[in-house]
Amino acid sequence: MRRVNATRYVTALREGGSLPGLVEADDDGLYVVKFRGAGQGPGVLVSEVVAGELGRAIGLRIPELVVIDVSPELGHAEPDVEIQELINASPGANLGMDFLPGALPFDGSSTHGIDPAEAAAIVWFDWLITNVDRTPRNPNLLTWHGDLWLIDHGAAFFRQHGQEPLSLTSERPTPMLKEHVLLPCSGSVMEAGERLAGSARNAIGSAVTAVPSEWLGSDPESAREQFRLFLMNRLEDSGQMKKDLYPDD
Ligand SMILES: Nc1ncnc2c1ncn2[C@@H]1O[C@H](COP(=O)(O)OP(=O)(O)OP(=O)(O)O)[C@@H](O)[C@H]1O
Ligand SMILES: [Mg+2]
Repeated sequence: MRRVNATRYVTALREGGSLPGLVEADDDGLYVVKFRGAGQGPGVLVSEVVAGELGRAIGLRIPELVVIDVSPELGHAEPDVEIQELINASPGANLGMDFLPGALPFDGSSTHGIDPAEAAAIVWFDWLITNVDRTPRNPNLLTWHGDLWLIDHGAAFFRQHGQEPLSLTSERPTPMLKEHVLLPCSGSVMEAGERLAGSARNAIGSAVTAVPSEWLGSDPESAREQFRLFLMNRLEDSGQMKKDLYPDD
C-alpha cells in the first residue's frame, strides 16, 4: 500500500458508526479515514486491509487503500471535541480509502442491472472473509459511474475479537450470509467460488503482508499467520459455505 501524510481534516462522515473522516493528504488526494484510536480498536483496520487487498486481487471493485500518517496538529483547528480526541488518540498510521466523489449508497431496493456473476462473487467473498455487514440494513456498497463498489470491511473476520485464535474458528458458520443484500440477484455462489478460489489463494500472502505492523500488537508475524491460516482453511472447505447458505438442506 502507498503511504501518505494527512494535511487537512475536511469533515466528519457522520453516517459512519466509527466516525470516519474525510481527509486531504500530501498527494492532493481525498481519503475516507478510519482512525486507529476509534472505539473498535485497530483490529477493524486490519480487517479492512486484508479484505480490501484480497478482494481487489480477485477482481472486485474496492477503492484503493493507503496508510495515512496523522499528526495531532491535524485536529488543532477542529471545533468538535469528539473529533479532536479521536485524532489525538490516533497518531501515526491510520487507514485511508480513496474517496469516490459523488458515489451514492446502494440501497438494495433495486438490484436491476446487477450482473448475477458479479453478485455471486461478492457473496462468496463475504463468505470467505466472514463479513457480517452487507445486509439490506447496512449494504456497504456504493454506486459510482454505474458500477458497484465495495466499502467498509471492518466487520469482516469478526472472530478475531473473540477468545480463540482466529485460525481455529475457520469452520464456524458465517451469520448473516442468508441476509446478504445481493443474494436475491446472485448467480451460483458455488460456481463463483470455483472461479475465484485460485486467485484468492495466491493473494493471501500479499494481503496479509500489507497490514502495517503497528496495528498487529506485540507479535505481528503470528497475528498475520492467524489470518493466513484462517483464509487457507476456509478455501479448503466450501462445504461449510453450503451449510451457511442452505442450512435446511
Ligand atoms: N470510498 C468512499 N467514497 C465515498 N464515500 C464513502 C467511501 N467510504 C465510505 N463512504 C461514505 O461514508 C460512510 C461511512 O463509511 P463506512 O461504512 O466505511 O464507515 P463505518 O464507520 O464502518 O460505518 P458503519 O459502521 O455505520 O457501517 C458510507 O456509508 C459512505 O456513505
Ligand atoms: Mg458502513
